[in-house]
Amino acid sequence: MKILGIETSCDETAAAVVEDGTRVLSSVIFSQIPLHVRTGGVVPEVAAREHVVKIVPVVEEALKKAGCGLEDIDAIAVTQGPGLLSSLVIGVSAASTLAAVLDKPLFPVNHIAGHIYANWLGEDSSDKIKFPVVVLTVSGGHNELVLMNKHASYKLIGETFDDAAGEAFDKVARLLGLGYPGGPQVSRVAFSGNARRFILPQAQMGKDSFNFSFSGLKTAVLNLEQKEYASTGSLSEEFIADCAASFQEAVCGVLTDKLLRAAEKFKAKEVHLAGGVSANKRLRAMAGEKVSGKHYFDHNGKKVELTSSFKLRFARDFSFCTDNAAMVAAAAYFENARHGTNRPVRKPKPGNLKSAGASRKKGNPNTAVLADPELRMYDIAR
Ligand code: KG4
Ligand code: ZN
Repeated sequence: MKILGIETSCDETAAAVVEDGTRVLSSVIFSQIPLHVRTGGVVPEVAAREHVVKIVPVVEEALKKAGCGLEDIDAIAVTQGPGLLSSLVIGVSAASTLAAVLDKPLFPVNHIAGHIYANWLGEDSSDKIKFPVVVLTVSGGHNELVLMNKHASYKLIGETFDDAAGEAFDKVARLLGLGYPGGPQVSRVAFSGNARRFILPQAQMGKDSFNFSFSGLKTAVLNLEQKEYASTGSLSEEFIADCAASFQEAVCGVLTDKLLRAAEKFKAKEVHLAGGVSANKRLRAMAGEKVSGKHYFDHNGKKVELTSSFKLRFARDFSFCTDNAAMVAAAAYFENARHGTNRPVRKPKPGNLKSAGASRKKGNPNTAVLADPELRMYDIAR
């Protein structure tokens, strides 16, 4: 089954053709980053206008690269939320129009489910992904731990109470005078920095919690930066590198500790990294170090025993970590295989998981459900 995926949730206009959920025939991404560098972040109206200009050429290019005509496409998939409303609307309108004109099924996809399915792109039949899987989804707008016991079944086991990890990277980059988007810049300068120079807080949110908080860490970096300015009048290259490295170490530490603890608790076979921050090399390396032995040392230096081994995965291609449309087509394929085609597109939704209706069951801080059927991400494992 060939699915044409369309993604316009933020500042990338993307289209892709994916066969049977794993074989990428084309993936075209028009990044608006140069447009948003000037403002140091995405201005929604500017992003939406650019999507209008680029959506048709990007879809045409994706079809051309896949060697397909529209008649060869079996279904259209589109991100319907969460994201910037004015950006989402462009992709949803384009996809709905194509589906109506071609009389093909239209699959609405949750953006986070899309990121999760990026790890299925290019799946090798001799190395199939085995459930249960615990996925750490870390991007600019999202930061969750999700348990999957089977395809298209997503159970939210942890989320951030304030910033997402990518957002924290972006804000710290701004504090340190680095460019936009912040994650790759922080990661670049951290490479030559001393990650042990500053011991920064890693919020645990309670002993057994799988939730995250990065606001304290961000404030700690702000305090360091202000102190440095007050005493030296500037930020040296060495200070910026050490600060970036120490910050990155703290973020990756808390993300990987919780990922591994969740994998132990839910008896996962695999642990996956997904979303823009999963492109971070230190995050990948730290997760790799922790899964490779029978124990690891957490941020407090405490030894944590692992009773099982977990296979670590992340997207096979860096371009599938950040926003792309191949992941949207992949999610649509596996969701369709499980739920069938009768899934009408609903209103595009802005905001994060909480504004999309996530609720937390009383008495169990580690179990949350996303109640909003329109986003349909948290189809609680039945
Ligand atoms: O998934 P994505 O493209 O968009 C959202 O869904 O939010 O993720 C973008 C985020 C940005 O915050 C960016 O700074 C971060 O991913 N990011 C990184 C790296 N590459 C992108 N963060 C840390 N290290 C990286 N190498
Ligand atoms: Zn994204």
